[in-house]
Amino acid sequence: MISLSHITKTFGSGDSAVHALDDVSLNVADGQIFGVVGQSGAGKSTLIRTVNMLERPDSGLVTVAGQELSGAGEAELRAARQRIGMIFQHFNLLSSRTVLGNVELALEVIGVDSRQRKARASEILDLVGLTSKSSAYPSQLSGGQKQRVGIARALAGKPRLLLSDEATSALDPETTRSILELVKTISTELGLTVLLITHEMDVVKTICDSAALLENGRIVEQGPLVQLISTPGSRLALDLFPLGAVPPPAGNTIIDITFSGGSADRPVIAQLSRTHGIDVVILGAAIETISGNQAGRTRLQLPGSVENNTAALEDLRSQGLLVELVGGGKS
Ligand SMILES: Nc1ncnc2c1ncn2[C@@H]1O[C@H](COP(=O)(O)OP(=O)(O)O)[C@@H](O)[C@H]1O
Ligand SMILES: [Mg+2]
Repeated sequence: MISLSHITKTFGSGDSAVHALDDVSLNVADGQIFGVVGQSGAGKSTLIRTVNMLERPDSGLVTVAGQELSGAGEAELRAARQRIGMIFQHFNLLSSRTVLGNVELALEVIGVDSRQRKARASEILDLVGLTSKSSAYPSQLSGGQKQRVGIARALAGKPRLLLSDEATSALDPETTRSILELVKTISTELGLTVLLITHEMDVVKTICDSAALLENGRIVEQGPLVQLISTPGSRLALDLFPLGAVPPPAGNTIIDITFSGGSADRPVIAQLSRTHGIDVVILGAAIETISGNQAGRTRLQLPGSVENNTAALEDLRSQGLLVELVGGGKS
């Protein structure tokens, strides 16, 4: 659905130049919910804005649903943007219009006639659960309700792609959850592809199939979440399983074991003590549902150096577990 190929974008020039995007390549499959994570200033908004050409890249190709937008003219772009919905952190609603009026506006600008507009706007407000607020004004709505209007407006023109730039960042955790659930349901029911920008790992964990980590305008890792959690050293995986800082090893070996799929319910620790006679100390554990499957990471302390624990580490690895040494020397 989306293909970004070697995108660069620089703001300013000379000493004050900011390389907002530096050779970014990314593919989002049809129907996927894809998350882009990164700190403030990483280039996330610039990235999402290149997808509908609100930001023209300096170089690289942008293709959406098979159409190359980076080479398209204004008329072609206008038509293409009708097939791409977008939602924002601060909702961007018109305060002078009712809820229904805000949704209708999206249809007005593409020339849908008045009767069809009303019918379609009412239908989509029903989908986002806001029928009862049709004639309310934005100032009378909660943040979550405002974002539901934002989603209704974005979907009014029946796009195949939804772009979301920090759409839940202004919302409390409970409202965030309900909005994410809505996005997920809509994506499934309408076969909508979603590219979602966030600085919150919780958002990724809750609804994304795949994710990319953006840092200083560069993608440092990307892939399906299930693949990332079994990639040694993955920073995204580390963020998916928040285990805190690694304590000083003090003559011990400290490892993180990642469980997923079939290995999630095996008595690994008991077996480690039994077979190798090791007194294992559990330093931390996190269990998450990732792409619908249980996965977990456990931080263990094994007494003695890595050399002393070679057999145990090999045994764990031979069981298909991802074992990462996080303290105590090389393995
Ligand atoms: N229109 C602009 N003019 C100049 N600099 C910009 C512009 N838009 C973004 N930037 C800069 O590009 C970098 C990336 O910004 P942005 O994409 O907004 O990051 P994020 O959304 O991850 O916080 C920042 O250093 C920002 O200041
Ligand atoms: Mg931003």
